[in-house]
Amino acid sequence: MKLRFDYNNMMDSAIGSHGIKASAIDKAQKAHAAAFADVIENSGKGWQEWTESPLLDKTAVDELNAFGKSIRDKATSFVVLGIGGSALGPICVCNALLHLHHNELPKTVRKSPKLYVEDNIDPERMAALLDVIDIKTTYFNVITKSGETSETLSQFIILYNALKKAVGDAAAKEHIFVTTTDGKGSLYEVAVKEGFKIFGIPSGVGGRFSVLSNVGLVPFAVMGLDIESLLYGAKTMREACERPDIRSNPALMTAFLQYLSMKSGKNISVMMPYADGLKYMSDFYCQIWAESLGKAVNKAGKTVNVGQTPAKSLGVTDQHSQVQLYTEGPFDKVITIIGVDSFGDSVDIPADESAEVGEFLKGHTLNELINAERKATEFALKKAGRSNFTITMPEVNAETVGELLMYFMYETAFAGAYLGIDTFNQPGVEEGKKATFAMIGRAGYESKLKELESVKKDEKFIIK
Ligand code: PA5
Repeated sequence: MKLRFDYNNMMDSAIGSHGIKASAIDKAQKAHAAAFADVIENSGKGWQEWTESPLLDKTAVDELNAFGKSIRDKATSFVVLGIGGSALGPICVCNALLHLHHNELPKTVRKSPKLYVEDNIDPERMAALLDVIDIKTTYFNVITKSGETSETLSQFIILYNALKKAVGDAAAKEHIFVTTTDGKGSLYEVAVKEGFKIFGIPSGVGGRFSVLSNVGLVPFAVMGLDIESLLYGAKTMREACERPDIRSNPALMTAFLQYLSMKSGKNISVMMPYADGLKYMSDFYCQIWAESLGKAVNKAGKTVNVGQTPAKSLGVTDQHSQVQLYTEGPFDKVITIIGVDSFGDSVDIPADESAEVGEFLKGHTLNELINAERKATEFALKKAGRSNFTITMPEVNAETVGELLMYFMYETAFAGAYLGIDTFNQPGVEEGKKATFAMIGRAGYESKLKELESVKKDEKFIIK
């Protein structure tokens, strides 16, 4: 394992009364064993098929790479249509592993198409996309596990229609490929009928756990990323997360520390990477943590209303906004810092610059400065008695990103097991989906529409 996990600043020995006692970890051996068994014994089963994703064989990887190259060679732009778990994996991995201004680079330098991941249905965003792409040389990956999601289906309809007008019915089919559950869902049926290339998603891999399935791998292949190393990293982390001793299992340990923190009222979990490439890892984390752990009932059906609100933060940018709150506000947060030892580039702050300003900075590098600021934040948090732990990546590459993603998935699964909830369902999002269907006039939702229409707003609570 390349990642390092330092949880000193979660402990009372470092941060005082708001910290966790080492004995609390030792005393909870039964809880650790139960949480570990809950996840590991179900590995590869039910909704835990995601644990198998890193084991993809070489032939399948080669096929993906060959397909990716075939698209890369002819596409000027590549557009992913998806939302939630069907978009965040492609977003966070591509942001971590591609040049930070990938789309602005000249084609000869970037070597892969411009990338757009469309995870919203803002009409201005769709119109803006159509303004900047040349649809005749753009390829679209429609990603939806269920094949039923309104947002993704509406995007597909709009763009398939635009494609047919631009290149003709037959050629349009070559511009679309679909990633969805094999043999199931409306989009699967349409894809078969229209003759689109289909990439399957195993039935036991849920949206927010799907980044290492075809949901992520197809876009990564198109963008020319190193899938083999990504999966290798994920496999290495899987092995680390299968260690039964909590003291050597990073995901089990931090899940437990978060669980204890939740029990003591630390209901906010801040994810704070110190690297722009990892900015969207926070979005990935926020989704998996919120949608998996925010639950009304436990597995026994008892009302528990648990969960920890995830918050995104970026070092060093948010040192100048949120860190004030983290160090002096309520003791209701756990801050996870992600540090990077060695950045992909090094930028000097020239020692020989004659402008008489910032003398203390001259001769250093931005690399030194960002890591000094990260350590300074850790220090300030510790001094203020705030719970925090640091994950360090030696560098950001496909292997370490694979490790980080797998760690997030295992950490979430273990946290759900400690809480005794179903980590893999999301009943809370259903009501909104049904109300949308009703308002947009989908057949079968007439009574829901009546229910919606019966809701009256009181004018006296509206300010105009
Ligand atoms: O994690 C989840 O299950 C959700 O966020 C889904 O990924 C999201 O709702 C999109 O669903 P689908 O992939 O079925 O279009």
